[in-house]
Amino acid sequence: MKVPLIDLRGQHQLLRPQLLEAVERVIDSQQFVLGSEVEALEHEIADYCTAEFAIGCASGSDALLLALMSLDLKAGDEVITTPFTFFATGASITRLGAHPRFVDIDPRTYNIDPAEVEAAITSKTRAILPVHLYGQCADMDALLDISKRHGLPIVEDAAQAIGAEDHGRRAGSMAHIGCFSFYPTKNLGGAGDGGMLVTNDPDLAQRLRRLRVHGGKTEYHHDEVGINSRLDALQAAILRVKFKHLDEWSEARREKAAFYTELLEETGLNVEFTPPFVRSSVIHSAVCQIVSTTYISSIRNPSSSAK
Ligand SMILES: Cc1ncc(COP(=O)(O)O)c(C=O)c1O
Repeated sequence: MKVPLIDLRGQHQLLRPQLLEAVERVIDSQQFVLGSEVEALEHEIADYCTAEFAIGCASGSDALLLALMSLDLKAGDEVITTPFTFFATGASITRLGAHPRFVDIDPRTYNIDPAEVEAAITSKTRAILPVHLYGQCADMDALLDISKRHGLPIVEDAAQAIGAEDHGRRAGSMAHIGCFSFYPTKNLGGAGDGGMLVTNDPDLAQRLRRLRVHGGKTEYHHDEVGINSRLDALQAAILRVKFKHLDEWSEARREKAAFYTELLEETGLNVEFTPPFVRSSVIHSAVCQIVSTTYISSIRNPSSSAK
């Protein structure tokens, strides 16, 4: 039997009437960019993440870029991050003329190793950019300690981890700025691109709101050079429908991840298989993704070690 890695038809079929109603609502309102749907989603996401402010933008990639712009990152600066992530993480740094300083990961969780982060700090370091990969939070206690001692802001790449927790704190709101992606295949996915930033800092929130609309507080007055990264009202309306189901979907993912892990440990197949280690303080949101990927790549190429 061929099991697709991702099949969103079932999810959309279940919510079809509500999704279509949301689309019609936006079309009737004629407010297609930002506006009340986006503001409502921003409030809902801020509440959910226990953050003071949420700022919608056009994608997870833009969320990372805007976060680094709001920290005034410039050419020659360094940001310490992990190479084991999606391309956008490192690219957001390079895009501003700065250098991603890649450090190694903890091989058990696949997340950035805080000891490596501390060892890589130089006079050029301006920020730390951990990724909560596959829905499991990086070791934020250790990273926050480093951040405090060295006066370095942390931008959390929580693109894959909405709703994940570490010691009861929600991914994205543990440090200075958190970045989310609403790409259709994410835990909370739209019907196109979308992203969100969260922060507890009112000044950063204000700056981010300005940067996403070409750096202007009021229309046609531009205080600085930003980018065009507004969240569509259609995406926000669709995301608000799906958001109500996020916790139940994440719980189902956790159950499936545990089930796959159990089965794969019992296969008796001659493949090298390393299920991800889940730290005890963490509630992850999607580790099943790596379990199945690791398994499939090992089966296809049994001589290679599981990556
Ligand atoms: C870890 C990580 N960071 C950033 C991004 C970028 O998000 P987007 O595709 O919404 O631009 C992704 C998306 O795949 C991701 O997985």
